[in-house]
Amino acid sequence: MSKVLAIETSCDDTCAAVLDGDKILSNIISSQVDLYKKWGGVVPNIAKRAHSERIETVVAEALKRAFRLKAQKYAGDYIAEGMKKIDLIAVTYGPGLAVALGVGIDMAKELARNYGKKLVAVNHVEGHIMSNFLKNSCGKPLRKIRFPALVLTVSGGHSKIVLMKGIGIYEVVGETLDDAAGEALDKVAKLMGLGYPGGAVIERLAKKGDENFLKLPRPMKGRKGFDYSFSGLKTSFYYTIRDWSKERISENYENLAASFQTAVFESLLGRFEKAVDYYKPVSLLASGGVTANVELKNRLRKLARKKGLVICLPWDKKLSTDNAAMIGVAGWHKAKRGELVKNVDKLDREARAELG
Ligand code: KG4
Ligand code: ZN
Repeated sequence: MSKVLAIETSCDDTCAAVLDGDKILSNIISSQVDLYKKWGGVVPNIAKRAHSERIETVVAEALKRAFRLKAQKYAGDYIAEGMKKIDLIAVTYGPGLAVALGVGIDMAKELARNYGKKLVAVNHVEGHIMSNFLKNSCGKPLRKIRFPALVLTVSGGHSKIVLMKGIGIYEVVGETLDDAAGEALDKVAKLMGLGYPGGAVIERLAKKGDENFLKLPRPMKGRKGFDYSFSGLKTSFYYTIRDWSKERISENYENLAASFQTAVFESLLGRFEKAVDYYKPVSLLASGGVTANVELKNRLRKLARKKGLVICLPWDKKLSTDNAAMIGVAGWHKAKRGELVKNVDKLDREARAELG
């Protein structure tokens, strides 16, 4: 069961990928970001329509590229040809935006029924964790990830510290009590009038800014446990700049971005370091959209060095943010464990699915 077609539509990217086990043969991402710029965030109905319009073409493109299919007239022809080579379909069932998840699940169910393929349902957060186990079509990079591993996974939808005792064996030991780290970056970018999504814009501005420009709190510092909280930090930022003129804000874009980004990253790293000391893992992993940030990656590498550990990060920016390849590799392992969908018709989305 090595050829996997994976589908991911949990938020604002329509994604499909084809894998040979853990090797990526194709990884197609159709981003909807341009549709949300003026709204400052994902709009469910727009997302549903955009996923529905794009899903067939994206799946066809993934199959076409993976198997170098000869030119066809219609997307459906590529799908009919490509599906002959597929052994397993993997799809994200949650967590995520319900109406968006539904589009990917319906497509996966239809393909499983029409072509008589096995189906596996994958948790989106497990997908992010498993992005570190992906290889290119030549089988690189060679990584031997040892367990127990401690994982920091941070995106626009979640911020978690996960103790991973093996593939498929997860214990969430810390998570955000309110906003996710990426969500906080997005909201602050919106407050400053920088558009959506904010993480990458803040990263670019922060490079030239003074991180000590604003005195912002370090949420949860000194508290017991390993949970996060970012909503108070965002509120504190808001109160600081709410009476500022537009000019004053724009003159200080770089300093504001650097101050906020540093507050978020120090919080992420501080709690993660505490968890590393407590759980004493033999390896470290990080994943999720926020780990596309070079400054965060550098801080994580520095922490790993300090602890005498190795940290694995997604080897391509495209594997940090949402993609279907990560769903494919997680699904392939799940299928090997025999965790297939028993009744295809009954598979349903779970907008608030928990990991584990
Ligand atoms: O993993 P992802 O694509 O989707 C979710 O599962 O949410 O993560 C998207 C999040 C957004 O909040 C975005 O602002 C953030 O990741 N992000 C970044 C960067 N690129 C994306 N945050 C910081 N620096 C970046 N370069
Ligand atoms: Zn994600």
